Amino acid sequence: MIKNLFKYLSITIIAVTVMLSCNDKQKKNTSNEENPLYLDASSSLEDRIEDLMSRMTLEDKAAQMSQYVGLEHMRKALGDLSEEDLDVNDAQGFYPGFKTTDIAKLTREGKIGSFLHVLTAEEANELQEMAQQSPLKIPLLIGIDAIHGNAYYKGGATVYPTPITQAATFDDSLMVKASQQTAKEMRATGTQWTFTPNIDVLRDPRWGRTGETYGEDPFLVGNMGVAAIKGLQGNDFTGEDKVIACAKHLIAGSQSVNGLNASPTDVSKRTLFEMFLPPYRRAVQEANVFSIMAAHNEVNGMPGHMDEFMMTDLMRNRWGFKGFYVSDWNDISRIAKWHHVARDFKESVQFSIGAGMDMNMHGPYFQDYVVELVNEGKLSEDRVNDAVYKILEAKFRLGLFENPFIDLESVKSEIFTIEHQQTALEQARKGVVLQKNNGFLPLKNVSGKKIFITGPNADNMTTLGDWSSPQPEDNYVTIKEGLDNMAEKYGYATEYYDCGQRSKWITDENIAVAKQKATGSDIIVLVLGENSYRHDWKNKTTGENIDRATLKLSGNQMKLANKLFELNKPVIVVYVSGSPIAEPWLEQRAKAVVNAWEPGAFGGQAVAEILLGEVNPSGKLPLTVPRSVGQLQMIYNHKPTAYIHKYNTEKKVPLHPFGYGLSYSKFKFSEPSVSKTEFDGKDDTITVSVIVKNTSEVDGEEVVQMYIRDNRSSYTRPVKELKGYKRVFVKAGESKTVSIPITAESLAMYDKDFNFVVEPGDFTIMTGNSSADKDLKITTISVNDGFTIEKVK
Ligand code: BGC
Repeated sequence: MIKNLFKYLSITIIAVTVMLSCNDKQKKNTSNEENPLYLDASSSLEDRIEDLMSRMTLEDKAAQMSQYVGLEHMRKALGDLSEEDLDVNDAQGFYPGFKTTDIAKLTREGKIGSFLHVLTAEEANELQEMAQQSPLKIPLLIGIDAIHGNAYYKGGATVYPTPITQAATFDDSLMVKASQQTAKEMRATGTQWTFTPNIDVLRDPRWGRTGETYGEDPFLVGNMGVAAIKGLQGNDFTGEDKVIACAKHLIAGSQSVNGLNASPTDVSKRTLFEMFLPPYRRAVQEANVFSIMAAHNEVNGMPGHMDEFMMTDLMRNRWGFKGFYVSDWNDISRIAKWHHVARDFKESVQFSIGAGMDMNMHGPYFQDYVVELVNEGKLSEDRVNDAVYKILEAKFRLGLFENPFIDLESVKSEIFTIEHQQTALEQARKGVVLQKNNGFLPLKNVSGKKIFITGPNADNMTTLGDWSSPQPEDNYVTIKEGLDNMAEKYGYATEYYDCGQRSKWITDENIAVAKQKATGSDIIVLVLGENSYRHDWKNKTTGENIDRATLKLSGNQMKLANKLFELNKPVIVVYVSGSPIAEPWLEQRAKAVVNAWEPGAFGGQAVAEILLGEVNPSGKLPLTVPRSVGQLQMIYNHKPTAYIHKYNTEKKVPLHPFGYGLSYSKFKFSEPSVSKTEFDGKDDTITVSVIVKNTSEVDGEEVVQMYIRDNRSSYTRPVKELKGYKRVFVKAGESKTVSIPITAESLAMYDKDFNFVVEPGDFTIMTGNSSADKDLKITTISVNDGFTIEKVK
């Protein structure tokens, strides 16, 4: 009711102010000034955009392509950073020479089209209010990194597990649900555009942003990305409870030459097409993603922000991208500053916009250069019009011209709802991966009643992962709290010792006290891992711009573990980390290893439920866990010759394979059976069926996985590639038949001209519950006549 009233008032205010305003620009227009067509919601989208654009000067248009950080953000950054810091800081920003009042003035003048990092609902309304004072009253598009829930929002939104954890669920429909809920929480707090999903295919886990990805497999990454976009945008993001998604970062920053964020990538065109690009093609073709962010990095000598082949020839012209591109943080200016392929910012703008870029993240001067470049004939006005058309289309579809404001009264009731909390918990339960279990878990079967808990990640917000703001105390459950809350029910007592909340803070004294305190316990729960929590940036050990030169545990964590092992008590290791931990020796000594990834607001509860046996673990690794950094590149979908030879001092097998994860149930898989053995053309499908029997006394969920190998091909192909999976619940003692389709796309590759084709020959079909050969059973299908799925235009 209040919301409707507020909406009604806002619409009236907008309509009245538009009617009253009569600046020169509007006078130029021939349409009805009393009631401009673009404000008439009953007119068609196309007519509204055209009408509005006919009223805009080149300056107005360039302004729509400009984004700035929010004013509160700017105030804080002004206090935190020096001007020199700005150059390398990708998390905070301000504009030397500009005060927040200057930015507010620009907004009132209609010289800013978009904001990012607006972290409160109040500020979102204030900024929209300013934009409504501008001559054309074009609402702002406000973007935020709602990467796993609207976690960056400062008022206590639902924090879902991070993307790597979400991928470990192998549950696309849960991903759709979490994303729909995220969209609702965003709209309720005044933002309409999220810079997610990150569909970078992870090929080097030294990259600190591993936790932001859906792992190493293009098919899984594509599925998760499509699910996220569909949940966020719905069919076309029309309406008040949907947002625009942003597929990022085009492309291949997840395999930089040295594992560092933003450093160069040097990969073949074939690897780009086979490994990195499939999720982008699908984001565009299956989910109609409306924005794409370019990558910080160069690929093969071409900075991502001026890559015309990627942005225009491929994504737009060949694959049909219909939305708009946004730059990553300051990256247009870095074409000159960092990459040294343009003279200055102005020439960078020319190269970038000319190549297909549509919006600058973030700050001044950009729009002045756009205007100058068009006036000098160096940039076509059509290119600017194309960019602006898409940006305005987004604003119209999102309903912002009808009502750019939110009802502050209802924010609390629309975020962190019980239903949303439940989804976050469900994702955590399904995303936690049991990496080792000597029959020790679940704890309810164990005698001995005192649990000693310690470790840097046991009792703080590390479980929330990167891209979250500090949350209200009552909005999250740490692992210690989860165990405290539940242990008593099973007759356990818990004792916790704070050995240092950050891995760097664990001192020898703390280790000695931990050992002494653990002496009287029966079981030790050791919560280790890394920390991507950005609000304590200097203590981060992973996450954005903190990359890892080793995959071992940071700080004194192993020292702490070693001392506790000396007690000869059973130790359960719980990892909280967005990146994989390569500590083979630790895993050998622990009774059980639980990889919780970054399980979000209710991660502590999910971990406790799993340890105590209330929930049966079912998460699967979305990436290969190497034994050491020296094994990199360690991926399951490698080429046939990758392991012909040996390392001198290291095994060539990983610590854990992709797709692996234990359960408290025991599952037996039948041989795969196929609906037929010959695949016949573009529209054909073969169904693969597997019977999964739960031979244990515990009900459980299993993820049935299907991998395919092209047995002989014109270019080398991976030894196996995931092409289907299904989560299935099987009661103790019962069986279920699981069917997975093989489509033409499951068999396709790129030929010498980069047409997307299926070549004739045999394909091995493998089914099982991990990517390891020993976990897979095989059959064969064949293609008699090859065919083309998509031809290069
Ligand atoms: C990151 C992007 C992010 C942007 C805005 C950049 O540093 O690379 O992924 O969306 O900042 O926060």
